[in-house]
Amino acid sequence: MNILEIKNLSLAFHSDDKDYQALHNVNLSLEEGKMLAIVGESGCGKTVTAMSVLNLNAPNAKILSGEIIYKNQDLLKLNEKEMQKIRGREIALIPQDPMTSLNPLYTIGSQILEVIEIHQGLKGSEAEKKAVKVLEQVKIPNAKERLKAYPHEFSGGMRQRVIIAMAIACKSKIIICDEPTTALDVTVQAQIMELLKDIQKEYNTSFIFISHDFGLVYETADTAAVMYNGHVVENSSAEEIFKIPKHPYTQALIKALPDFNTSKLEAIEGQPPSIKDYFKGCSFEPRCSKRMDICNKEFPPYFSIDKTKCACWLYK
Ligand SMILES: Nc1ncnc2c1ncn2[C@@H]1O[C@H](COP(=O)(O)OP(=O)(O)OP(=O)(O)O)[C@@H](O)[C@H]1O
Ligand SMILES: [Mg+2]
Repeated sequence: MNILEIKNLSLAFHSDDKDYQALHNVNLSLEEGKMLAIVGESGCGKTVTAMSVLNLNAPNAKILSGEIIYKNQDLLKLNEKEMQKIRGREIALIPQDPMTSLNPLYTIGSQILEVIEIHQGLKGSEAEKKAVKVLEQVKIPNAKERLKAYPHEFSGGMRQRVIIAMAIACKSKIIICDEPTTALDVTVQAQIMELLKDIQKEYNTSFIFISHDFGLVYETADTAAVMYNGHVVENSSAEEIFKIPKHPYTQALIKALPDFNTSKLEAIEGQPPSIKDYFKGCSFEPRCSKRMDICNKEFPPYFSIDKTKCACWLYK
């Protein structure tokens, strides 16, 4: 069963008196208790997609069309007060920089306690017990003692864990992780991925995991979507996409991953486009080694190849 469905979402940003489209008919679905990875280069629309779910986009953002269905309601139709009930309690966001969601002036403890008091209605020593429990769950050593610490006394990895602990405390149904591990070293990255897997198992939490690193997500994610220039160009199980990538862009992304056997790195030629560039056809065409005549004339529809949906004329 899908817990979240993004349907035909198109969004533009207004700047210099013009509208520039950042999302083009984005379709994504997240199954309950599963992890969906969204992968793609910088600027392809990953964060904008995540922010749309919680209605947290910049004020110059304008939804052009689409629906975001959660529990039989369209989140795009909710007002700010209704949306506040969804944020945290139902859907939590772990942003790229955890400092943006922790207040440097308050202790870790007071910030977790606030969440627990609001979302679980616990007070005093009961709330404190719960705070220690969630910190222990994310494997913060000496949890009781550490409640008195300030965010700057924690390492980047520990701050990520604190945000994850808050999401657990809220019993969020969906946790959206926006490149939460980019700033961390690889061993800490792996620990955070393990932690997310544990949470998924214990609470049946559903995850959207945003990353530009396919290598990090493919083992943990169940399904994956590859985005390019505001389009979802390929969508399938994570395993299928990683093992048999269909879209030339996905193939290039995977080839660009470090290969420890050959130490060869194949960069994708050219630059990703900006939302200000106009394309009549496929926006990957200028960088594509498999381009055909039709590619710069018409944007490809989705073609189904086994379980995969792929927007590329090669599969017509
Ligand atoms: N407030 C804004 N006004 C104008 N353009 C914006 C705004 N916010 C984002 N954009 C543009 O929308 C596009 C998508 O941005 P987004 O932040 O979703 O990229 P991303 O895939 O998350 O990239 P990264 O991997 O660097 O985080 C980019 O071209 C970006 O410049
Ligand atoms: Mg981003």
